[in-house]
Amino acid sequence: MEANQKKIILTGDRPTGRLHLGHYVGSLKRRVELQNSGEFDEINILIADDQALTDNADNPGKIRDNIINVVLDYLSAGIDPAKTTICVQSALPALHALTFYYMNLVTTARLSRNPTVKAEMQLRGFEDEGLPAGFFTYPVSQAADITAFDATVVPVGEDQLPMIEQTREIVEKFNRTYGETLVLPKAMIPENEFQRRLPGVDGKAKMSKSLGNCIYLSDNAKTVKKQVNGKMFTDPTHLRIEDPGHTEGNVVFTYLDAFCNDDHFREYLPEYANLEEMKDHYRRGGLGDGTCKKFLINVLEETLSPIRAERAKWEADIDTVYDILLAGTAKAVEKTNGTLARVRRAMRIDYFDDRRIVREWEELLKKAQQ
Ligand code: TRP
Repeated sequence: MEANQKKIILTGDRPTGRLHLGHYVGSLKRRVELQNSGEFDEINILIADDQALTDNADNPGKIRDNIINVVLDYLSAGIDPAKTTICVQSALPALHALTFYYMNLVTTARLSRNPTVKAEMQLRGFEDEGLPAGFFTYPVSQAADITAFDATVVPVGEDQLPMIEQTREIVEKFNRTYGETLVLPKAMIPENEFQRRLPGVDGKAKMSKSLGNCIYLSDNAKTVKKQVNGKMFTDPTHLRIEDPGHTEGNVVFTYLDAFCNDDHFREYLPEYANLEEMKDHYRRGGLGDGTCKKFLINVLEETLSPIRAERAKWEADIDTVYDILLAGTAKAVEKTNGTLARVRRAMRIDYFDDRRIVREWEELLKKAQQ
């Protein structure tokens, strides 16, 4: 199939809050690199506001407010609207139709086994309160997102792997049932294990707004410093500088694993050539936590300060940001409508695309009379 030959990226985020360092190393940074690699024919980013509503039905205002935050985070982190199409999910009607057809290709038993959905259900208390059907089925809508763009590659955080797996199953089932129509996508996750799963500053499994353990891309330098100095624990057995220390499970080192490179050492901590040397010293004893934290702050600032400066520029011109979103969404409407037409043709429910069916019905009726 012709769409198979192109290399197409689709990825997205729920606009439920500003993006943080976990989003950045888990996916956003990679998207910018892929965008600038010149290796892809199309790059699309979807602001998944409909998906965000599946667990925020009572608070659409929150989603509305955060669309702008997420777009600003993209633009300031280096997403270039000349190379990447940024669009809004709810304005793409083809996605709703595709979701409805794909629902028939998955069982409720299969949906119940999705580990990410299970974990989210628990977190949101849906197990006791009752589970919204929309939330339960959002992996199907995500399959619609991915296939509507003919995506071959989906760069995401590790927690999204079950969604890509579900999408691949739907694609295979669709193509088996209706003929080769949809493109089979692949997930792409960061190679660095610390980037795949960046813990919160308090060491808890994930950065989450409600836990207050995030560093946001839009945080100012003072807040970043406060989060590192005030919330990051190190090694509780490393009481005096001379004591030997542990680097595993030590949040400061986990962040260094995720963020620092050898250039950072040349620039800010030339006593060591690289992180391994620094870790060795910490383990032997003689390297203080204050020095480690100060280095980490410098490393983080090297990522964050250019993002912050870009954000300030875009914030001063929201009209332009709106136009970027409008143009990206218009382009995405075309693209996804094209896929929906292809899907309807494959399913032979394209009744109104031409009048061919009139002849078919006539034949049918004639045969019935014979
Ligand atoms: N589920 C993703 C998240 O929670 C957001 C998302 C929606 C997405 N549609 C997508 C990601 C399509 C990749 C591709 O972050």
